[in-house]
Amino acid sequence: MLIRIKRDWDLPESAATDETFFRQRRQLAKALAAGPLLAAGVGLGGGLLGGGRAARAAGDPTADLYPVGRNEAFTVDRPLTDEGDAVSYNNFYEFGSQKTIAEKAQALEIRPWTVKIDGLVEEEMELDVDQLIRSMPLEERVYRFRCVEAWAMTVPWSGFPFAKLVEKARPLSGAKYIRMQTLADEETMPGLRAHWYPWPYTEGVTMGEATNELALLVTGLYGRPVPKQNGAPLRLILPWKYGFKSIKSIVRFTFTDERPVSFWEELQASEYGFWANVNPRVDHPRWSQAQERLLSTGEKVPTQLYNGYAEQVAHLYKGMEAEVGDRLFR
Ligand code: MTE
Repeated sequence: MLIRIKRDWDLPESAATDETFFRQRRQLAKALAAGPLLAAGVGLGGGLLGGGRAARAAGDPTADLYPVGRNEAFTVDRPLTDEGDAVSYNNFYEFGSQKTIAEKAQALEIRPWTVKIDGLVEEEMELDVDQLIRSMPLEERVYRFRCVEAWAMTVPWSGFPFAKLVEKARPLSGAKYIRMQTLADEETMPGLRAHWYPWPYTEGVTMGEATNELALLVTGLYGRPVPKQNGAPLRLILPWKYGFKSIKSIVRFTFTDERPVSFWEELQASEYGFWANVNPRVDHPRWSQAQERLLSTGEKVPTQLYNGYAEQVAHLYKGMEAEVGDRLFR
């Protein structure tokens, strides 16, 4: 790794501990949820409106699809995070390394949007995102979401099973992994000026992970189209893994026989590995993973193995601990 690299990715440590920042952000989130006038009053233009519900749906050509029916098989025993918090406390490094990127992210142009499917597939394709979304069975699921920085939220995502996209892609038998890529647009994404990051943001999963029942390609949040800061128009959610695996604003799925090296793995493999399954007993090299802080309440609760989803996913990693060890959980 180059010595001159600025260690911006050290930020998570402060994010895990800085209560003053957390309190300030709470005030901002309340203002956002209250609506555009108040939001303007705290210095954010009407463009943000992460919490301004009507405005968020307006202009999105899929807005008429929401809300979608909730799949009650995917609910949790925790209260929902306030919507204002979920849409104002974000990680989206393409817009900067701070949590408060929601306003900047409004520059993201989400139409027209094309999703490319290539690599080891019967036939490469370019899909218009609206046609894709309208061709899929949308449902709402409430998942726990756990960031590697030790904060967590519980939110209702709308979307469709990743397995449905795999089916549509018709992968060849040699495909073992899927590499995903986020849009990288220098005009609208100021974070890309940080040239020491390996843009574009990429992530990877095994075919078994992609087709697991929990893997969800997300198009909506809180019963409306997913906001730009949360990864519009299409992002991934893998609730049993640390949040960095849940790549936002996806433009490409490449089926491959080689394990992809992700954005974070390339930056700091010892801290952000390929597997990144949640485990309270395997600490991040710079902080404990035993507990997590819930957005909205600030309450600290014990972290759960596979973020509480062991029943659905533990079989994917059976027998691998001996071979991979702690790397399964970091
Ligand atoms: N995807 C892209 N393209 N860029 C990012 O910086 N951050 C990841 C993940 N997906 C990130 C991304 C991290 S570290 C987390 S915790 C989640 O997005 C945050 O999702 P949220 O802002 O919707 O809570």
